[in-house]
Amino acid sequence: MNVFDAITTRRSVGRVTQETVPREIIERILESAIHAPNHKITEPWRFHVFTGKGRGELAKARAEVARIIAGEEKEDEELIKGRISRERKKAFRAPVVVAVISKAGRDEVETIENYAACSAAVQNMQLAAHSLGLGAMWRTGPVAYHEHMREFFALDDEGDKIVAYLYVGYPDLSETKRRREPVENMTTWREG
Ligand SMILES: Cc1cc2nc3c(=O)[nH]c(=O)nc-3n(C[C@H](O)[C@H](O)[C@H](O)COP(=O)(O)O)c2cc1C
Repeated sequence: MNVFDAITTRRSVGRVTQETVPREIIERILESAIHAPNHKITEPWRFHVFTGKGRGELAKARAEVARIIAGEEKEDEELIKGRISRERKKAFRAPVVVAVISKAGRDEVETIENYAACSAAVQNMQLAAHSLGLGAMWRTGPVAYHEHMREFFALDDEGDKIVAYLYVGYPDLSETKRRREPVENMTTWREG
């Protein structure tokens, strides 16, 4: 698959099967990430890969966040149970979940640029997954960014950021149409 085809045919794939993804394939996806551009070669990316029963750790952390949030919102016991159970299950939506962390820079600008580099790394991973016949979905949200998740990943510097949870697996869904404004609507040409 050439690069342009990969870019234009990739879709976020929210539904994947539970079929195991071989470790070599996951490693190829990770390898694609570290070829992303990064200013001053800070190599700011760190990856936590959850597969099989390993996803249970992520499930437990997510469930704990749900419990904390529900407690803060003073929900009743039944609602809390439902919320915790839904959060726990989310970790098992795909056979592979890769959490991508961006390390803090030496100053604010470097921290921002590290995050930008990690975003490029995530897109490399999505394109690599797509070219290997896999589907991927970049997921975030309030639970994903919660302070408890930062503790779970041992992020002790404020500049350390959770960038993505990339859910990867074999697609279980037909392709959806992409909605995008034509690029000319987004472009200002300043020509000589
Ligand atoms: C920073 C970021 C966070 C995202 N978080 C979520 C998410 O929490 N849930 C979700 O369904 N999709 C999430 N997405 C995926 C977008 O929904 C998806 O890219 C968008 O719908 C466009 O679809 P496409 O990737 O197929 O072009 C996220 C994408 C980015 C870049």
